[in-house]
Amino acid sequence: MSKHVAPFTTRWIDPREGTASTSEDPLAIDGFDHIEIYADSAKQSAYYLSHAFGFAPVAYRGPETGWRESVSILLKQGDACILITSPLKMTSYIASFVHAHSFSPRDVAFTVPHCEAAYYEAMKRGATSASPPTEWKDEHGSIVHAAIKTYGHTIHSFVERKNYKGLYWPGFIPYKQLFPRTSTIKEAGIKVIDHVVGNVELGKMNEWVAFYERILGFSQLTHFSDKDISTEYSALMSKVMNGGKGKIKLPINEPAEGKRKSQIEEYLDFHGGPGVQHIAFQTDDIITVVRTLREHDVQFLHVPKTYYDEIPSRVGSIKEDLAIIRELGILVDRDEDGYLLQIFTKPLEDRPTLFFEIIQREGSTGFGKGNFKALFEAIEREQAERGNL
Ligand code: FE2
Repeated sequence: MSKHVAPFTTRWIDPREGTASTSEDPLAIDGFDHIEIYADSAKQSAYYLSHAFGFAPVAYRGPETGWRESVSILLKQGDACILITSPLKMTSYIASFVHAHSFSPRDVAFTVPHCEAAYYEAMKRGATSASPPTEWKDEHGSIVHAAIKTYGHTIHSFVERKNYKGLYWPGFIPYKQLFPRTSTIKEAGIKVIDHVVGNVELGKMNEWVAFYERILGFSQLTHFSDKDISTEYSALMSKVMNGGKGKIKLPINEPAEGKRKSQIEEYLDFHGGPGVQHIAFQTDDIITVVRTLREHDVQFLHVPKTYYDEIPSRVGSIKEDLAIIRELGILVDRDEDGYLLQIFTKPLEDRPTLFFEIIQREGSTGFGKGNFKALFEAIEREQAERGNL
């Protein structure tokens, strides 16, 4: 047995009545715990996300720790946690997921104060189980975990970590214990996960809206129709689901009729069905984040220079220097509560599927409705270049 083995135990937990819920927040969700992305190679994906985006590799589980099914690397920046997992055996579920979807989020995990209560409340409300409550234990304490299924092959985990004092999860070791690094990853300024967007098939958006209302007790925050989100060629519809007393925002998109193929249809074709379209990370300083990411050759959607001509009349005054915002290609929008600055990366790998958003909120709690048209025209230019429009 290797010296890196981190001893841990697991046990199944019996059903019992929920205690933590209220009618407005029945599962008592505390926030995003982490997002797990399944990938071909955890090592290479972690290298990309750390060197390009400033995520630090924190914890590791793999053959060296006695775990022979897969390799997982936890990446962290601010409070945003991304877990990258790759298969070690072609016969594993992880391998079949990666074969179908390539680099794609498997799990949008929530932190809860009481895992069993959240899980059995969701099951009582009609959820489909992905994993029953299990306790993971080591010398640092215990984590209780369970999961339910959502759109496509995506799941929502419920993670109860209040009795765990370790680095991340029983069975994981500090990354640097196995890979002492000579270079230090410099954080770019990402603070927290802001929202996670799912793409579902034509006509399915309302089914998933009902799922989040019924099973997770979420409510609908905003609705964008195809009138809001349409260009000359294509359209989509979007509804924003809000839960965990406002801590969780999950917009859901579906394609709408247009002259040409919607960007959501392109995603569904190349992803092989529904899944997470983008993860938005919040920052207090988008200028520094985008400068750093551009220095690291992260590619962003191109915004036409004419977009900036209308900013003063559309958005009014902002504290940032508009010349810098324009030079960095950052988008700006205002609503009744304030303004926001946002930017979208190009897809993170070869398939036109998952991408990241960086967002800075200056009072605005919206999603950049005023940017949709400029943004989608930019996406369509890229789609046309790929021969998919
Ligand atoms: Fe977004």
